[in-house]
Amino acid sequence: MGYKVAVVGATGAVGREMLKTLAERGFPITAIVALASPRSAGQQLSFGEHQVLTVQNLETFDFAGWDLALFSPGAAVSAIHAPRAAAAGCIVIDNTSHFRMEPDVPLVVPEVNPQALLKYRKRGIIANPNCSTIQMVLALKPLHDRFTCKRVVVSTYQSVSGAGKEGMDELFNNTKAIFVNDPVKPEVFTRNIAFNCIPHIDKFMNDGATKEEWKMTVETRKILDPDIAVFATCVRVPVFIGHSEAVVAEFEKPVNVGEARDLLRNAPGIVVVDEHDDGGYITPADCQGEDATYVSRLRRDPTVPNGLGFWCVADNLRKGAALNAVQIAESLVAQDLLRHAA
Ligand SMILES: NC(=O)c1ccc[n+]([C@@H]2O[C@H](COP(=O)([O-])OP(=O)(O)OC[C@H]3O[C@@H](n4cnc5c(N)ncnc54)[C@H](OP(=O)(O)O)[C@@H]3O)[C@@H](O)[C@H]2O)c1
Repeated sequence: MGYKVAVVGATGAVGREMLKTLAERGFPITAIVALASPRSAGQQLSFGEHQVLTVQNLETFDFAGWDLALFSPGAAVSAIHAPRAAAAGCIVIDNTSHFRMEPDVPLVVPEVNPQALLKYRKRGIIANPNCSTIQMVLALKPLHDRFTCKRVVVSTYQSVSGAGKEGMDELFNNTKAIFVNDPVKPEVFTRNIAFNCIPHIDKFMNDGATKEEWKMTVETRKILDPDIAVFATCVRVPVFIGHSEAVVAEFEKPVNVGEARDLLRNAPGIVVVDEHDDGGYITPADCQGEDATYVSRLRRDPTVPNGLGFWCVADNLRKGAALNAVQIAESLVAQDLLRHAA
C-alpha cells in the first residue's frame, strides 16, 4: 500500500533533498513524479538506488489522482500551483513562505505542534516553517513546556544553501575569484559572501527588520505560543550547509541548567553535545546530512532573572526543509489522513 507523490521544485537544493529523504526513509510510494520549470523539463534525477525520474513541467502537470505534493519551487510559484494541486484533491506540503501565516493553513513541526495538522482539510495545504524557525522551536519546546518562555533574543549564522543552489554556486565562485585575484560579482547576495558575513536575509521591512527576522518572530508565535516575544538578527555566513543560532531565552519560572539539559536530551529530534572542553560542541560542518538538531553551549544568562543561553545547529536542507516536510507526510499517514492511491 502506498501513495502517489509529486515533488515540485525537484531540481532545487530542497527538492533534491526531498527525493533523497523520501527514499531513505522508505516513505510508502506507488508512483513518484519530479516537477520543475520548463527550463529543466526532460532532465533526469535519481530516486533511491534504482529509479531515474525524468523531470516534468509543473505548468502543464495535472495533479488529479495524485495523493501528496511536496512543494519547494519558490513562493510566487507555490502561490499559483499549490492551490491548483489542492483543488485537484492532492494534499500539499509547502516549503515556501507563501501560506505560512494564513490562519487556516497549519504551520507544523511534527515534534512541536502535531495537533495543528488536523486543520489542513479546509485548504488542503500544510506549510513547512522557515528553516531557522524549525530548529529554534524544536529546542525551545521542552524548555517552554517546563519553564514557560517569555522572550527570545536570537542571532543566526545561516548557510548559503538557504538561498538555494545559486547561493551555493555564488559562495564557491566568489571564493575562487578571491584566490585568483579576479573581480568578485555578487548576484544572489548583496555583498561578496566569501570570507564575509552579511546581516541581511530577505527584504527589509518598514521597521528596519528583515523579512527573515520577521518570519522567525511570527512563525515561533504561531507554532509555539502567541505570547512569546522574539527579537532576531539573521546573518548569512560563508558556510555551504547548516544553520547555527545563538539563542538567549527568558522564562517565567526559575531555570535550572542541569534540568534544562536533561529535558533537551530527552526531547525528540534533539541531540545535546555540550562538553565544556575544546571541540565539545557541534558546528555546522558536523551536522551536514544529519537529521538531528544539535544543542551545545547551554548556560545560564545571569543578566536576567530566569535566562538561559544555548547554541543550536541543524542541516537547513534536512530538518530545516525536506526532513520536516517528509515527517509531516509521515504524520498524515500515521493519522490515516492521506487518501490511498487506487
Ligand atoms: N534552502 C533552504 O534551506 C530552504 C529551507 C526552507 C524553505 N526553503 C524554500 O524552498 C523554496 C526552494 O528553495 P531551494 O533552496 O530549493 O531553491 P533552488 O535551489 O533555487 O530551487 C528552486 C526550485 O524551484 C524550481 N522552480 C523555479 N521556478 C519555477 C517555476 N516557474 N515552475 C516550476 N518550478 C520552478 C526550480 O526549477 P528549475 O531547476 O527548473 O529552475 C528548482 O527546482 C524557496 O521558497 C525557499 O524559500 C528553502
